[in-house]
Amino acid sequence: MSLVSAAEMTAKALAGKYAVGQFNINNLEWTKSVLLTAQETKSPVILGVSEGAGKYMTGYKTVSAMVKAMIDELGITVPVALHLDHGSYEGAYKCIEAGFSSIMFDGSHYPIDENVAKTKELVAKAHELGISIEAEVGAIGGEEDGVIGGGEVADPAECKRVADLGVDILAAGIGNIHGVYPANWQGLRFDVLAKIKETVGDKPLVLHGGTGIPDDQIKKAISLGVAKINVNTECQLVFAEATRKYIEAGKDQQGKGFDPRKLLAPGAAAISAKVKEKILLFGSNDKA
Ligand code: 13P
Repeated sequence: MSLVSAAEMTAKALAGKYAVGQFNINNLEWTKSVLLTAQETKSPVILGVSEGAGKYMTGYKTVSAMVKAMIDELGITVPVALHLDHGSYEGAYKCIEAGFSSIMFDGSHYPIDENVAKTKELVAKAHELGISIEAEVGAIGGEEDGVIGGGEVADPAECKRVADLGVDILAAGIGNIHGVYPANWQGLRFDVLAKIKETVGDKPLVLHGGTGIPDDQIKKAISLGVAKINVNTECQLVFAEATRKYIEAGKDQQGKGFDPRKLLAPGAAAISAKVKEKILLFGSNDKA
């Protein structure tokens, strides 16, 4: 199956009261683990690529070619979208050209009129090519790959302006942040989420910063219109932990334990287990 846009899968998720996971990828192991787990759980999936990760993997063309070939070679039949995460204006055009099936344009750091103008232009371009587009209002807090957000809570009226441009999915800050939440975090602002939902209507909403949000808050967010949830840091943490355990146990020194295919296997298995846990929590299993 070739890549699909994220529009239909998130619209279905909104109607069915579940959420599709966006799992950010960093390399071949990450991609393989996420794709195989989505297939195993019969779940649609979104592979997120930050600009930093795109650069790390040598460029968007490499990522696009790898993902398309891997879907084919692994016989993946569930819907897969390849999505630019927190894209700049230039990055969005590059990913469109490289064959991504979905883009996020994060214009949240621009004044709202400029965010609206740039988003509008990119909506037209993306839709001309059958590519889905996510926009953002009210910056997500914390830092992801050098993109630092102020953690503002989105203004529902501004959300409506951006939603009405025809974006397929809308990210709105509701107290969520990238990375691990600080101990004094006050939780998601469900009052704001409910207002946004009321203002924008049937538009699939995106919850960034999925790492560390308690399960009950995830479920409540889904019940209030969240249809896409992004997870990045949590997969990195379990990958690092599993790799550390392997090395600390001296397994890389036993036999051919230093072989990268062995060395990276526990981390890859840990990603698979985490992705499966999230898919079951989000309820997207058996929805492909
Ligand atoms: P976390 O790294 O906090 O899971 O956030 C992921 C994300 O929102 C990607 O855009």
